[in-house]
Amino acid sequence: MNILIIGNGGREHAMAWKINQSKLCSHLFIAPGNAGTDQIGENVSIAVDDFEALGEFCIEKKIGLVVVGPEGPLVMGIRDYFESKAELSSIAMVGPGKEGAQLEGSKDFSKQFMVRHGVPTANARTFQASESKEAIRYLDDCKAPVVLKADGLAAGKGVIISASIEDAKVSIREMLEEKKFGEASSKVLVEEFLQGIELSVFVLTDGEHYVVLPEAKDYKRIGDNDTGPNTGGMGAVSPVVFADSVFMKKVEERVIKPTIAGLKKDGIAYKGFIFIGLMNVEGEPYVIEYNARMGDPETEAVMTRIDSDLVDLLSACAKGQLKNKEIKISSNYAATIVMASGGYPDSFEKGKTISGLSKSNIAVTFHAGTINQNNEIKTNGGRVLAITGIGQNLKEASRNAYAAVSTISWDGAYYRKDICQDLLRIENPT
Ligand code: AMP
Ligand code: GLY
Repeated sequence: MNILIIGNGGREHAMAWKINQSKLCSHLFIAPGNAGTDQIGENVSIAVDDFEALGEFCIEKKIGLVVVGPEGPLVMGIRDYFESKAELSSIAMVGPGKEGAQLEGSKDFSKQFMVRHGVPTANARTFQASESKEAIRYLDDCKAPVVLKADGLAAGKGVIISASIEDAKVSIREMLEEKKFGEASSKVLVEEFLQGIELSVFVLTDGEHYVVLPEAKDYKRIGDNDTGPNTGGMGAVSPVVFADSVFMKKVEERVIKPTIAGLKKDGIAYKGFIFIGLMNVEGEPYVIEYNARMGDPETEAVMTRIDSDLVDLLSACAKGQLKNKEIKISSNYAATIVMASGGYPDSFEKGKTISGLSKSNIAVTFHAGTINQNNEIKTNGGRVLAITGIGQNLKEASRNAYAAVSTISWDGAYYRKDICQDLLRIENPT
């Protein structure tokens, strides 16, 4: 079967890496891809939101399976577009339609969904742009810290955690009245702050049945010890030590099952990944957010721990045949370190030559923001590489990842030095 992956990040390279290992994959294309995906499949220069060109390409190359990586095209309705065209509607696709993607595209929608279906989550109230006075009055009755969330997609920046109610009042005015996040903040949720440890759980569902992928922990801040501004993610670890079988059972019973049953009840046919951002509050799971896709860089850790044939699972998902499918998960540990351009997540330079990119047998190098220019691999984004070390325990995985990272360099390369350290401390308290 010919397969098309849509996207150009580390997530898509990791999916390409895993898909390429399947006997079911004949020819693999990635649109638009990066310098890494081009080494294992064929990059196609079509933008992720150019549905017409993607559709024409699928017909020309007889694509049997489309895997949509990022949220943008999902929220814009790539599935709805394919389903509306007679010549495209039979192509299997992993990724929900526009309505299902609202789980990620609108925090108000997803909060109402969770409340309606009894999924544990933080209490919240939504305010419209015309209700900023009510929002400010409401804040007077809230306890600090308080969480403010722009309703729409805001490139991972739409959440503000205010340490004081006074700060929250200033921020909510900026969001609602001055449209700090543009249209995304024309509605804002004021949400209760949950104290706990976060983890990401990934589910692949055909709308009725599901498999649970390996869980992961993401490191969102730019600086060591979780300091500085938020990024797309600077590292990931899988498995997560505190996600033991008791906790994961609670996640499955209280979160995953009601979520999938809820989608069905609401008449939302959902075929794709659900990424559940969870807070572990004293052993109890609460949903912080849903995403309609896999996480990045979590995917770069997760893919290395799936022993099953991913194409078999993805096609079963897209065709509504996940019933009786099982996922085999490796007992190995994976630790992913993101190497970023100096200056990220603020402004940074591109076009730096990357050196030391040789194959390693202790780690896998996934490309994110890279480009091949005249056979030289250059930086082409904020997050440039995601290096996943594999080991029999967390310490070994981390050591392997950092050993591989230390051989790669470019002018201004930056990475966090403390990925895994918090989990190693939980494993070995002093
Ligand atoms: P989100 O964009 O929803 O993933 O939120 C970004 C980050 O804000 C999350 O990864 C959490 O670290 C934090 N966050 C979101 N909601 C809450 C909450 N209710 N309590 C505590 N932290 C939160
Ligand atoms: N790493 C977080 C995300 O993909 O949203």
